[in-house]
Amino acid sequence: MSTLDTKRCDRTVAWRALQGHYEAHGRDLDLRDAFARDPARAEAFSLQAPEVFADLSKNRWDLLTRKLLIDLAHECGMPARRDAMFNGEPINSTEGRAVLHTALRAPPGAGPFSSDVHAVLDDMLAFAERVRDSASGIRAVVNIGIGGSDLGPQMVVPALDSYASKAMEYHFVSNVDGHDITPVLARLKPESTLFVIASKTFTTQETMANADVARAWFIAHGGLDIARHFVATTTNVQAAAAFGITTTFGFWDWVGGRYSMWSAIGLPIAIAIGAAHFRALLAGAHAMDRHFAEAPLEHNLPAQLGLLDVWYRNFHRFASRSVAPYHQGLKRLPAYLQQLEMESNGKGVDLDGAVLPYDSSAVVWGEPGTNGQHAFFQMLHQGTDVVPLEFIAVRTPSHPHLSLHTKALANCLAQARALMLGKSVDGARGERAPTASDTIDADTLARHRSFPGNRPSTTLVLDALTPRSLGALVALYEHRVFTSGAVWGINSFDQWGVELGKALCNDLLPRFATGDTTGLDPSTAALLRRLR
Ligand code: F6P
Repeated sequence: MSTLDTKRCDRTVAWRALQGHYEAHGRDLDLRDAFARDPARAEAFSLQAPEVFADLSKNRWDLLTRKLLIDLAHECGMPARRDAMFNGEPINSTEGRAVLHTALRAPPGAGPFSSDVHAVLDDMLAFAERVRDSASGIRAVVNIGIGGSDLGPQMVVPALDSYASKAMEYHFVSNVDGHDITPVLARLKPESTLFVIASKTFTTQETMANADVARAWFIAHGGLDIARHFVATTTNVQAAAAFGITTTFGFWDWVGGRYSMWSAIGLPIAIAIGAAHFRALLAGAHAMDRHFAEAPLEHNLPAQLGLLDVWYRNFHRFASRSVAPYHQGLKRLPAYLQQLEMESNGKGVDLDGAVLPYDSSAVVWGEPGTNGQHAFFQMLHQGTDVVPLEFIAVRTPSHPHLSLHTKALANCLAQARALMLGKSVDGARGERAPTASDTIDADTLARHRSFPGNRPSTTLVLDALTPRSLGALVALYEHRVFTSGAVWGINSFDQWGVELGKALCNDLLPRFATGDTTGLDPSTAALLRRLR
């Protein structure tokens, strides 16, 4: 392959060994038997990384699987690629860029571009503190951005609500659909609002359109000083200046959008939680960076999660993975992970452009527990697909209602147990006999009430949801995505797949005014006529 001299995963010895191992043991591994055979299994498959403990034992793998997956990572050159990333080599080959989000959270003097990074960070945090000061008069912060310029702050601000200043409201406008910005504007007063226009490129249609609407609303409602009430977080300082913005916090092309919450894009986070807590968020991520960079793969949590993803996707052929944070603050984590994982690893060609003969990113989805339990968990327990589930449990809550917290945690553990243990038809029969009003015989009812079990899950545990632990958790996910992407031999850091739709939108937009359907397919033409 082009960037580093390594083997593609499907051409390695380890891949073939994993195929043989899957046929011989992997496919039929039953978690109930595995725990019965090895009482030390929970311990053997648990890992402590900075701020995050992981129980990987309820997954359909054994020690040999893990060893072969680690062999695979070595044979594919994952560690060398990881080191190349940390060293700032241009591993994003299709854009000729380095990938250095890790530099954004390195302490002063420690990472590449350290003085640039810390100069912007210091400025940005000083600005955040001025906004937080009641003398600023700012009571509402509105982040206008989309994708990586939205999802990080939108996920982190509620997650760290217990650290956030309650003197302000935080709003996130992303969608070009006017139903997003309209109710937000209705709540605001120009004199007490700060708009953060967040866009790496400062060209994204949705963001520019919403920024225009916000500026027009500001002027129409008597707003006097655009330069004071609009700031930008962008790599395109000139475009921000052309918009009328004089306060800009920059970042660099080596920060991918979905990896950018650590950069100036994190400004709304910094305004919400303050400079010291923002630095703690960075420090947690940095601790996870060091773990990923230094821990042998046998003890390396991001690497093991990424390798487990490969095992499930390419050998078990599981098409999706669900995430269930048992902490309401993490309600937007699944959305954040969807961009992180699927925009990074939803690729169909390898680094040389050859079509992949194996699958890449699974679908990632989820909802906070316990809400998901009352919605789609039915399918997880009894559906025809196996969907590995990832529980996130937080030991100490950030609220005073301990009885609620205990119930949330009990649900979390119970669901993981239920998925694994299942319930036999006999067990279901013993549990409830049909009553006189049932129109079903005992056997049929028992089959409906049985659970196959052996459904895999991972449980991640944080001691508390703090800036530091959240930073570590997000960095854990970033490096997990890196690991599977490196094994798959794909570029996890470009996103060409979003371009075609953008181009076709540019072609369609003027047709809404003219009604011209020339060259359109009949379906689109008919829909355009209907929607105009
Ligand atoms: O959807 C494509 C994408 O480029 C994402 O990768 C990015 O996070 C988002 O658009 C927003 O881009 P920008 O920050 O340049 O507005």
